[in-house]
Parts: sequence; structure tokens; C-alpha cells
Amino acid sequence: MKALSVVQEKRRSSSKIVFQTILSRRSVRSFSDHRVPSNLVLQLLEAARWAPSGSNLQPWSFVVVENPRLIRLVRMFAQGLAGNPSLIIAVCSEKPDLRYPLGPRSALCYNMNAAMAAENILIMAEALGLGACVHLSFNLMALNVILGIPDHVDLKLLVSVGYPKGKVVTPPKRRLKDMAFKEQYGVRKWS
Ligand SMILES: Cc1cc2nc3c(=O)[nH]c(=O)nc-3n(C[C@H](O)[C@H](O)[C@H](O)COP(=O)(O)O)c2cc1C
Repeated sequence: MKALSVVQEKRRSSSKIVFQTILSRRSVRSFSDHRVPSNLVLQLLEAARWAPSGSNLQPWSFVVVENPRLIRLVRMFAQGLAGNPSLIIAVCSEKPDLRYPLGPRSALCYNMNAAMAAENILIMAEALGLGACVHLSFNLMALNVILGIPDHVDLKLLVSVGYPKGKVVTPPKRRLKDMAFKEQYGVRKWS
């Protein structure tokens, strides 16, 4: 077998850091008062921008809410959003019927685009020493008004971000052997 190239070796060693970042990421719901510097906010947004999207449409947009008064207002209408984050990123998407044929699959695709961008934000936040949590429980109509979301745009989810405060508990995770199969559903290989 051919030896790995230097580039491949380098990538393999950085994969350990990536995997560790994925493992250590938790949904953080308690934040300190420290402000998140704007260069870090920019890195979160850049990470989101490089997410994959169906047909590479990149239909997303991001509203960053940092004004404490506005954050309080958003929290009033986001019952699932715990803690006092430094900022909230509203992950939005153009509505599917603008550039995609209508149908449930296209709606699904647009939801997935938003989820992929949000996951990039979560992973980047962890890599930067920040804490973050994604939220779906909010009053859509109220937040559309508060955030000035136009008619052709869907607010998909919120990501709260800040410096973590206190210990974050790791929730139980299902075992790999119960979810990963080989060749056919139900055929277990990994433990
Ligand atoms: C689609 C989706 C919606 C979620 N909505 C909320 C929410 O409204 N409020 C909240 O505190 N956490 C929310 N979460 C975070 C989950 O509760 C969390 O990911 C799960 O408990 C596993 O914990 P972990 O992220 O630390 O691994 C949501 C996660 C996903 C993927």
C-alpha cells in the first residue's frame, strides 16, 4: 500500500482536534456576562456561510442580535431559550418556492440547509471556547416582527451564543451499535 502524503498525514492529525471539538460540544444554556468580541462573531458567521446547501443555493441569511434590550425581547417570545446569551443568531432562509420547485422535498431541503449552517455555528463556537445552543421553540409571528423578517424569508431557528457559565452536563447518548449498521438495516458491526 502507498504511504500517505504529507498533506494527508497533516489532515489526519488535525482530524483529532475536529473530533474532540465535536465530542466536547454541548448545548450551553447558562452564560457569563462577558461580551463575545466581534471578530469571533464574524468567525461564527463565516463558518455558517461555508455550510453545504442543496444545489449550492446558499439560501440562508443571519440576523445577529446583540442589543441587550432586543435580546430580552426575543427571549420573551422564545420559551425554549434559557440563560442570558451575549448574542442570538437568527438563522433564516429564503422561502423554497423562489428558486426551487414546490413540494415537501424542497421544504425539507431548505430546513436542512438551515440546520447545516446552524451546526457549523455550534462547532465553531465550541472551537472558539464559546457555548451555544440551537432553539426551535419560539413564537414565529412575534419574532418575525421583532427581527423585521421580510415576507420572502423564513426564520428557521435561533442560536444563542456566549461564554459558558458553570458546568455543562453531558446528556446520555445512544450507543453506536444501536444506530450504525453494515450493508443492511439492523445488521450490527460496530460496538
Ligand atoms: C432541532 C433542535 C431543536 C432544539 N430546540 C431546543 C430548544 O428549543 N431549547 C433548548 O434548550 N435546546 C434545544 N435543542 C438542543 C437539544 O436539547 C440538545 O441538542 C440535546 O439535548 C442534546 O444535547 P447536546 O446538544 O448537549 O448534545 C434543540 C436541538 C435541536 C437539534
